[in-house]
Amino acid sequence: MIRVAAVGDVHLAPDVRSRIRPYLAGIGEQADVLLLAGDLTQHGSIAEAEVVAAEFADLEVPVVAVLGNHDYQCDMQDEVSALLRASGITVLEGTGIVLDLPGGRLGVGGSKGFGGGFPGRGASEFGEPEMKAFIRHSRRLAEGLGEALRGLDADYRVALTHYAPVPDTLAGEPLEIYPFLGSYFLAEAADSAGADLCIHGHAHAGSETGATPEGAPVRNVALPVLQRAFAIYALGAPHAAAPRARGVTIPLHGNRR
Ligand SMILES: [Fe+2]
Ligand SMILES: [Fe+2]
Repeated sequence: MIRVAAVGDVHLAPDVRSRIRPYLAGIGEQADVLLLAGDLTQHGSIAEAEVVAAEFADLEVPVVAVLGNHDYQCDMQDEVSALLRASGITVLEGTGIVLDLPGGRLGVGGSKGFGGGFPGRGASEFGEPEMKAFIRHSRRLAEGLGEALRGLDADYRVALTHYAPVPDTLAGEPLEIYPFLGSYFLAEAADSAGADLCIHGHAHAGSETGATPEGAPVRNVALPVLQRAFAIYALGAPHAAAPRARGVTIPLHGNRR
């Protein structure tokens, strides 16, 4: 069994420190890995990324992350990624990593992903160049996720994104903004690669559980959804209840995704 801890949308900044850190002591007793589902900062500045690096440095478990839309706001996403990598965090974008854990080899393929919506309600690659560029970008990132997942030689595969792969975990959000919260391209990529679990964030007002069309569990780990420091999901223990994080309440933050 592999225990996957995950949280997203921690939205750290110099004046928002230690939102999670106090709850990470002893995480190695509860989990084998920690996944971060993007929106690690508020605006993607270097000062904010330094807070993220300090928050998740030197843990007992490996930390694997993708960036979110907030982490792109300052147009310094490459510098933010480099800073996080220098602190020991693995940052994925169209790439993957295999971790040799006590319960087996865990493969994580990651991409920020993007929007566009879901079957029957989605945007299409048609018309204005801006619209085509929007959907092409979403499709390209999803293809990167799929390629990363398929390249993993692992016992279990996890698709880690910021944007949602399915609408299930958006329940609670206004229907009008679903196309800005995720894309079914991500679910297609995860299913085509046989992902065992999909982790995402971004939908602060969404809900935690859903599934891809092929039945892979989808979990929205946005901090305002979890309302706890992290969730833990067990892979390889289908009949065991996934252990929950400690019953901590996390102060909520603003509602911008
Ligand atoms: Fe977001
Ligand atoms: Fe967010």
